Amino acid sequence: MKATIDDIDPRGRRVLVRVDFNVPMREGRIVDDRRIRAALPTLAALRDRGGRLIVVTHLGRPRGKVTPELSTAPLAARLAELLGTPVRHIPGVVGADVEREVSALRDGEVAMLENVRFEPGEERNDPALVERLAGLADLYVNDAFGTAHRAHASTEGIAHHVVAVGGYLMARELEALNGVLEAPRRPLLAILGGAKISTKIGVVENLLKRVDSLWIGGAMACTFFRAMGRETGTSLVEEEWVETARTLLEGTGSGKIRLPVDSVVVPEIAAGAPARLVASDALPADRMVVDIGPETARLIGADCERAGTVVWNGPLGVYEIEDFARGTRQVAEALGRSSATSVVGGGDLAAALEQAGVADRISHISTGGGATLEYLEGRDLPGIAALGDRPTP
Ligand code: 3PG
Repeated sequence: MKATIDDIDPRGRRVLVRVDFNVPMREGRIVDDRRIRAALPTLAALRDRGGRLIVVTHLGRPRGKVTPELSTAPLAARLAELLGTPVRHIPGVVGADVEREVSALRDGEVAMLENVRFEPGEERNDPALVERLAGLADLYVNDAFGTAHRAHASTEGIAHHVVAVGGYLMARELEALNGVLEAPRRPLLAILGGAKISTKIGVVENLLKRVDSLWIGGAMACTFFRAMGRETGTSLVEEEWVETARTLLEGTGSGKIRLPVDSVVVPEIAAGAPARLVASDALPADRMVVDIGPETARLIGADCERAGTVVWNGPLGVYEIEDFARGTRQVAEALGRSSATSVVGGGDLAAALEQAGVADRISHISTGGGATLEYLEGRDLPGIAALGDRPTP
């Protein structure tokens, strides 16, 4: 069991809190602040308990270069609104000026550093950067579950130099995902969507050992259709994974993997493209799949309502285009009606659940994308592994 902020006394101490505020931005404005909100319990608790907070995040992939449009200044402003307290934005990551500003913090005050990925040493987990970051703090808290699969200076390296514990969001994410992997209420149903099977094959393999059934939607279902010898039209098929898909269908997935029975097809992916509903075993040669059909959505929905636990990752159609988001939305509504414990991952799905008005009916909406997938694959995440263990009573 990893230590959490309940195991430390932050009063009067400089606490470097790594969060994942890598939120979608448009023209300098935050489009979706869910990740910021998710870290508030940790930040508020540390503040209330007299910690001097140094909040650190990355934003985007500036690859070691100062990139003004990826500044954390708008994040600091939003955090200040949400926390209801001033958040001083420090326009640097390390260096004498940063050290001066950090040492001026008083108990309960909050500062946020500039985008940590402006430093070339961040992604390299460079020991020199690790040392300078560690020098800013007396305690380290990692609440950045979404970045826990990266062994970077601010997510992994620093944890070996300062007392390192997890935040409440980190703890909540782990509890929800462990609940699915270790002792789920049965039946356990998994729903996986998205374009590419190649990015989810580890998850499929690991979940197949645990679930009672696994629905596969999105374009990745087409690689399975090809493995069954079916026509897939002009849909995305990952040829190099067809053999793996066949092995799964005939081996561990036999009787567990479920595929769409009807599909929405179009000549090209575009809003307003003329869509047709067809049986999935009769896909036209000149069309591509962009969504599951209503009968498939109904079947998945019925499984959700019967399930004890549901884990869902990835949209079931080309969700960005309203016309092809229907299947995903229909399943979201069914999940909202279900009394199953439900764990849903990925930003697109969080938006789908909100649009369907059922977000508050879901047991846990993960803030992780890649991190959630790697955890569901059964991998150790370096940002978590590096944290200290809870002291034995
Ligand atoms: C994410 O959005 O998945 C995390 O913030 C990690 O970002 P990255 O893929 O750029 O490391």
